[in-house]
Amino acid sequence: MLGRSSGTRASTLRLGGDRLRLRPWAGETGTGLLIQLTPGSAVSGTAAAAAIEAAIGRGYLRLRTSALSHIESEPFLRAGFKPCQQLALLARPIQSGLPPRNGCIAFGRILGVRCLFEDLPDPSTSLAIRRARRRDHPSVLAVDQAAFEPFWQLDQAGLHDALRATPFRHFRVARQNSDTALIGYAISGRSGSAGYLQRLAISPSRQGQGAGAALVMDGLKWMARWGASHAWVNTPQHNLGALRLYEHLGFEQVPPGLQVLEIDLES
Ligand SMILES: CC(C)(COP(=O)(O)OP(=O)(O)OC[C@H]1O[C@@H](n2cnc3c(N)ncnc32)[C@H](O)[C@@H]1OP(=O)(O)O)[C@@H](O)C(=O)NCCC(=O)NCCS
Repeated sequence: MLGRSSGTRASTLRLGGDRLRLRPWAGETGTGLLIQLTPGSAVSGTAAAAAIEAAIGRGYLRLRTSALSHIESEPFLRAGFKPCQQLALLARPIQSGLPPRNGCIAFGRILGVRCLFEDLPDPSTSLAIRRARRRDHPSVLAVDQAAFEPFWQLDQAGLHDALRATPFRHFRVARQNSDTALIGYAISGRSGSAGYLQRLAISPSRQGQGAGAALVMDGLKWMARWGASHAWVNTPQHNLGALRLYEHLGFEQVPPGLQVLEIDLES
């Protein structure tokens, strides 16, 4: 049961020049997710109000936005949304300090990662990173759901959106050499000269062994190879493990960060 009526289908709302995608929030019955498809500037107040009406019409009881900048937030706040999660936004230049294609780099404990560091094989600790295939999706979602708290977990539609958020993407999975099970995955994206770490998760039992850093470095290498000048990533302010990882890898916080907004549609 979703609420007043069945609202489970995703739809794109075209409101003047603004485009917004409305779909269910993963794992939370009755909550809709509103994704701004025209990022970088504020949608009109009319579009924000129309999105609320569309969500009510589809039976949602609550509506949440994707991560918005403060400029993007303004029309939604005026329409009655309230901040619900604060995210740190981090950026890193990537034109220097990265290895060429097929090159090797040394980075702390991740020296054993085979695909990145070919002349440093260490079968007991090495990871294999490869392109994700469609048949990996169930395992990727299982890793995601084990790694993230419920609020941030992806479902198949969320994975689809993450893969289509940018014109170009790099979707990789990691496993231990001796094991067939996936232990982590990362989705990176590129749009113009900007690279984005869209999603990163490592199975809880395999965290703290360098796999997260290896997947981030693999994404940064891909961005560098295609001429991106900066990499961007966001993560909840309270995700201290991810913040430490990104800061270790040269990212710096860009205040004031991003926020997820929410509105209760029942009142
Ligand atoms: C964040 C995450 C991807 C890191 O992957 P990982 O394989 O555990 O990270 P690594 O082993 O490569 O760690 C590299 C560094 O990051 C830091 N770090 C990683 N996880 C940490 C944690 N839980 N707490 C504190 N620091 C952490 C450490 O500084 C570590 O280096 P150090 O041990 O030399 O201090 C993983 O913990 C995870 O999947 N978390 C849940 C999902 C998530 O938060 N994804 C990212 C959100 S954008």
